[in-house]
Amino acid sequence: MKIVVFTGAGISAESGLGTFRDSDGLWEKYRIEDVCTHEAWLRNPQLCVDFYNALRRDVLAAQPNAAHAALTRLQQCFPTTEIITQNIDNLHERAGNKNVIHLHGEITKLRGQKSETDTIDIKGWEQHYGDRHPDGSLLRPYIVFFGEGVPYFSKACEVASTADIFIVIGTSLAVYPAASLMNYIPQHAKVYVVDPGSPDLSGYDNVVHIKEKASVGVPQLVDKLITSLS
Ligand code: APR
Repeated sequence: MKIVVFTGAGISAESGLGTFRDSDGLWEKYRIEDVCTHEAWLRNPQLCVDFYNALRRDVLAAQPNAAHAALTRLQQCFPTTEIITQNIDNLHERAGNKNVIHLHGEITKLRGQKSETDTIDIKGWEQHYGDRHPDGSLLRPYIVFFGEGVPYFSKACEVASTADIFIVIGTSLAVYPAASLMNYIPQHAKVYVVDPGSPDLSGYDNVVHIKEKASVGVPQLVDKLITSLS
């Protein structure tokens, strides 16, 4: 029984990290064009560095919540479970989750200009603008900006296509190509969505929508799966 989990900002909301598109979300406070595009980086790299430094400080201060912990229990029972996340935080890893694919980068890492995926870890919250990658190029946050390629997308599609159970947690399914992962779920797979809001589920049949916050809905679903499948 292969379980694949696909997460978005909603799983980290109760850890105190804001989502992007809910009211009061991050994209109401900042313009994507100012901090999260390749052009923004070229125009004002210091602003991008400052923005991600502040976000990194929040991420390091946050703690994983009951939803992340429930996924650890799920993986203890079903070790082949894989997690695909759009999140740049490290709360999955800090909760003990394994096999995590980050589609949109990782805020605890920096990359150079020559390779999309040759990253280095950053110690603490602060990137100093001007520091260089071992390959000599200028370091930037390891974030997939809007308009850039998503390096691990094909890997994620392969993983999604192996699912017997596919669990979606806390994503509006508004950002592509990430949202199109849903098209790679096999017909036979059972699909659960845990989200208190209304992600765009039009076009997807046979989805069980658990309209709960992640910290409530995910532990409940995990308990149910562990009881019914083991
Ligand atoms: N538990 C579960 N889901 C929640 C919770 C919660 N406590 N609170 C909010 N949500 C849901 C919202 O209902 C919404 O469906 O989380 C979702 C958040 O959606 P977005 O803010 O659009 O976040 P996400 O889908 O992860 O965004 C995708 O957009 O800008 C980017 O790169 C960024 O990876 C991000 C991508």
